[in-house]
Amino acid sequence: MSHSSLITVRGLAKSFGDHTVLRDIDLTVNRGDVVALIGPSGSGKTTVLRCLIGLETPDAGVVTVHEGAGSTPGFDVDFAALSPKARREQQGRLRDLSAMVFQQYNLFPHRTVLQNVIEGPVLVQKRDKAEATAEALELLERVGLKEKANSFPHELSGGQQQRVGIVRALAQRPALLLFDEPTSALDPELVGDVLRVIRELAEQGWTMLIVTHELQFARQVASRVVFMADGVVVEEGPAAQVLGAPQAERTQQFVRRLTHPGEDD
Ligand SMILES: Nc1ncnc2c1ncn2[C@@H]1O[C@H](COP(=O)(O)OP(=O)(O)OP(=O)(O)O)[C@@H](O)[C@H]1O
Ligand SMILES: [Mg+2]
Repeated sequence: MSHSSLITVRGLAKSFGDHTVLRDIDLTVNRGDVVALIGPSGSGKTTVLRCLIGLETPDAGVVTVHEGAGSTPGFDVDFAALSPKARREQQGRLRDLSAMVFQQYNLFPHRTVLQNVIEGPVLVQKRDKAEATAEALELLERVGLKEKANSFPHELSGGQQQRVGIVRALAQRPALLLFDEPTSALDPELVGDVLRVIRELAEQGWTMLIVTHELQFARQVASRVVFMADGVVVEEGPAAQVLGAPQAERTQQFVRRLTHPGEDD
C-alpha cells in the first residue's frame, strides 16, 4: 500500500461570528490511511469535514490535494487568498474529491434505495445509468442489502439506512471517504453491522477520515488518530499510541473519560 499524501491541511481557521471554532488545524491524510478524528463535542470535528468537502468556507488555511488523487492533477486551495468566484470553483473540486457519510444518513425519503445510490453517479458525474445501476447493485450486495434496492428509506432500519449511506458514498468513487460519527444515531445492536462494513472498506484500501467517539473501533480500524481540542490538533499518531499511551494531558483526560464514562476526575 502506498503512503503518499492524498490531502494536506495547513492552518485551517474558522469562526462563526465571534466564536472561533478552528484556530490552526494541521492535518495530513495519506493514501490508504484510515484516520480517526476525535475530540470533545463542539471542538469542530464536523466543521473540519465540511471544510474539506467544500460545504463550509474557512476564514484561512490551505488545503492541498496532491497529484494523483482521483482524476485530478493536484491543486492548492488557499482560502484567505481567493476571490469568491475562484474559491467556489476550488470548493467544487474539493466536493468532487470526497464523499461524506452523515450521522443522520441524509437519504432522500421519496426515492428508493437504488435511486439514492445512483443519483450522484448519474446526475452529477454523468455516468451511464445502466453501468451505474449495475455497480450500485453490486455494492448493495456487498453490504447485504441488494434485496432492499427498491425499498424506500423509511422501510429500512437505521443500520440498513446507514449502510445505504455508505454505498451511496462509495458509488461516487471518491478518493477520500469522510464519515461523521456514522454510528452515533444507531441503536447499540445495529452499530456492529455498520462498523463491520467500515472495517471491510479499510481492508480494501479505501482512504478514510472518520469522526468517531468509538475509541475501541478507532483503535481496531484506524491507522492514525488525530485528537483535536480548542481549535487545534493537540496530538496525533498511531492509534495504539494516541489511545493507549497519550502524551498530552488534554488527550489523557479525554481518553480516560470516554474509556471510563461516569468516573469523574
Ligand atoms: N453554521 C454554524 N453557525 C454557527 N455556529 C456553528 C455552525 N456550525 C457549527 N457551529 C459551532 O461550531 C462549533 C463546532 O461545531 P462542530 O459541529 O464542528 O463540532 P463537533 O466537534 O462536530 O461536535 P459534536 O461532537 O457535538 O458533533 C460548535 O460550537 C457549533 O455550535
Ligand atoms: Mg459533529
